[in-house]
Amino acid sequence: MSAGDSLRAMAERVRLEAERDFPAVSDRLALDGLYARDLARKGRIAAMFDDLAGLEPDARRSAGRLLNQLKQEVAALHAAAAARIAATGPARPGLDPTLPGRAHWVARPHVLSQLIDEIVDIFKGLGFGVVDGPEIELDRYNFEALNFPADHPARDLQDTFYVNDAVLLRTQTSPMQVRILERQPPPVRVIVPGRVFRNEALDATHAAEFNQVEGLYVDDRVSMVDLKATVTYFLRQLFGPRTEARFKPHYFPFTEPSVDVDMWFEAGGRSGWIEIMGAGMVHPNVFAAAGLDPEAHTGFAFGLGVERVAMLRHGIQDIRAFLENDVRFLSQF
Ligand code: DAH
Repeated sequence: MSAGDSLRAMAERVRLEAERDFPAVSDRLALDGLYARDLARKGRIAAMFDDLAGLEPDARRSAGRLLNQLKQEVAALHAAAAARIAATGPARPGLDPTLPGRAHWVARPHVLSQLIDEIVDIFKGLGFGVVDGPEIELDRYNFEALNFPADHPARDLQDTFYVNDAVLLRTQTSPMQVRILERQPPPVRVIVPGRVFRNEALDATHAAEFNQVEGLYVDDRVSMVDLKATVTYFLRQLFGPRTEARFKPHYFPFTEPSVDVDMWFEAGGRSGWIEIMGAGMVHPNVFAAAGLDPEAHTGFAFGLGVERVAMLRHGIQDIRAFLENDVRFLSQF
């Protein structure tokens, strides 16, 4: 058998197999496999074209015509199969390819993490650093060093989860004020985001665990003016340039004077003054507890409830939603 004859025989086989296989294929992947076998640059038809080079001129011409014809036929079979698959989809029972696809879940930070990131960014812009503190804390830092009197109600078993007499779950991020001042001499400009715990009866506005952001600023001659300016700037960054802050006298053991900060809030037709954080000038006893000379230092501190801000911002009614992990809630943010 001459080289031309064997090429003819091979072409005939390729044609028969293509006529058998292309009409039978039912999905895109299998079709791509057949394309690779017969039509691709390294497929069988291309290989046969390469073999033409070894033939005599006359045989080459006629075999070449044959191969061109074969290639057109197989290409037409491929096109027909592709059109059929595109129109009907794979012939699998129970699968309706005309249905819209299922969207993939895309993970994102929790709404509270998003807010904390935003708060951190604002204070970073003011030159504040960010530190973490322990959630399991010593009574000494959570209460004693913060000038809580021995019989203060916050120390009561009602409010605090005690591990033992000396150890508890921190009820506030304020203990970090003393920890920071102990290890870093002023000037200090730092915020502490973190989780706190209270033995609360749970309802729409009370959770047993929630988040605060503590702020501490200690330097020469820090005054209430610095506090007010910082707080106002912060609230305007978060809630818009028309936001106002006002101070009301209050009591915290670790600041003197102490204030509650109200914010003028307008959204969705609602407006009014809303309590947004506690703040004040660092109490001399707190400096002393950290081993610093109270006469030589001034500073302000504040503590912000993160859930509170998120609820205001998004009109969330129930604080428990933050912990329930319901994707219908979480995916809104
Ligand atoms: N730790 C206080 C609380 O949990 C909030 C607070 C008030 C923090 C005044 C401060 C502050 O730093 O100066 O209620």
